[in-house]
Amino acid sequence: MAGKRPAKSKTANRNQTRGAAPRVAILMGSASDWDVMKPAADALAELGIASDVRVISAHRTPARHHAFVSSAEERGIEVIIAGAGAAAHLAGVTAALTLLPVLGVPIDSSPLQGLDALLSTVQMPGGIPVGTLAIGKAGAKNAGLLAGAIIARKDPAVRAALARQRARQTASVPERP
Ligand code: RP5
Repeated sequence: MAGKRPAKSKTANRNQTRGAAPRVAILMGSASDWDVMKPAADALAELGIASDVRVISAHRTPARHHAFVSSAEERGIEVIIAGAGAAAHLAGVTAALTLLPVLGVPIDSSPLQGLDALLSTVQMPGGIPVGTLAIGKAGAKNAGLLAGAIIARKDPAVRAALARQRARQTASVPERP
């Protein structure tokens, strides 16, 4: 599967962003990571933000990684989300290749259930920051929402979409079980 782009989501939200220029790149080390990373794309779509979803591995496809990340800013990408499992250096190397904010998602794909990826992603030496989210799907969802919050600082339409998302979430919580 490595090298294949993950299948596109069929959700209505993602359809709404079809054709729009991607503002967030979602990278993952393997196509096998897509199930975990999809909530990031869905959260962005809910905010009306198009994403560019790529399988890019820092160790299996280093040339693809360098080419994509080093040109991302000039192509209009504003935030990069990078998810990887095991000895996960994807987010850290991505952050080293760009001045864009990089959000890391540790993936629970190894026998250590993501603890290895968490430590690899969060424990960046001072100088190259990676904003690390939780292990797994919750981290991917929050990476999408956090990327939206970053973009919302300068985009009132995205800010309004973020406020609506929060309101929907609050309204969906029942008062009793
Ligand atoms: C990491 O190794 C990937 O991010 C993935 O989580 C893990 C396993 O990859 P595959 O062997 O399934 O391609 O680089």
